Amino acid sequence: MTDPAANRAGPQTKAPALPRLPNLLAGQKALVTGANSGIGKAVALALAEAGADVGINYVVKPEEAEEVATAARAFGVNARIYQADVSQEAQVLTMFSSFVADFGALDILVANAGLQRDASIAKMTLDEWNKVISVNLTGQFLCARAAIAQFRAQGDTRSVSRARGKIIDMSSVHQMIPWAGHVNYATSKGGIMMMMQSLAQECAPDRIRINSIAPGAIRTPINHDAWATQDAYDKLMALIPYGRIGEPEDIGKVAAWLCSDYCDYIVGATLFVDGGMTLFPGFATNG
Ligand code: BGC
Repeated sequence: MTDPAANRAGPQTKAPALPRLPNLLAGQKALVTGANSGIGKAVALALAEAGADVGINYVVKPEEAEEVATAARAFGVNARIYQADVSQEAQVLTMFSSFVADFGALDILVANAGLQRDASIAKMTLDEWNKVISVNLTGQFLCARAAIAQFRAQGDTRSVSRARGKIIDMSSVHQMIPWAGHVNYATSKGGIMMMMQSLAQECAPDRIRINSIAPGAIRTPINHDAWATQDAYDKLMALIPYGRIGEPEDIGKVAAWLCSDYCDYIVGATLFVDGGMTLFPGFATNG
């Protein structure tokens, strides 16, 4: 007898690759934080595929960042790597001035760098709380502040886009869905939502477009182990109406499109890219 589980979609079942992006971002200069792996890597490659020159920020593992740069160059754009811990003000300022010295301008920031340090409230240390808040939230503040200063300094000297500059903040479904055992992470993402909206309101008059993407469960090296068994995968699927894990590319391609002039009138929005996770699927047959 065949095992019925053998035909079920499982943790290893990848969605097919998406179609190639058109040249949406030709001539634009984009910096992506946390771009050596996972979602950040996919974003950097999608921006490159859409014609942008890319800066690839990383903290550790320069060899991974170099690989992303090589893959980006295969799209015919320039790519360079930048080491900086986004929670450190001096390192962020140095990264932005190096980027502008190298590329001559900045058109796009994707503030993606983020991490998790999970623990129940009984066990969470102050260090775990501070680490997540300082990388995920303060890091996005520091990078946004530096990008906005550069966009304002450039004024109308750039002719590559209708907006003077674009920022995408990488949030999470957990800016909206509370997450027991992850209070530091959920708080950082809730903070990103209000930071993004407040900055979008403040900077829109300068024609600076600031928005967020809120991914759901995405297949990254960090998440992979958590869903490795069929049982864990099936539990996850109960939370995702669309019935599959997201691929990093699902986020990358949306980021490229959101930075393009097709989205020129999208300001201060959070785009949930989550297969319906935020639709409260528990209520589909209940409530
Ligand atoms: C987290 C993942 C989690 C997903 C859905 C993301 O923001 O980084 O670890 O699986 O949200 O809960």
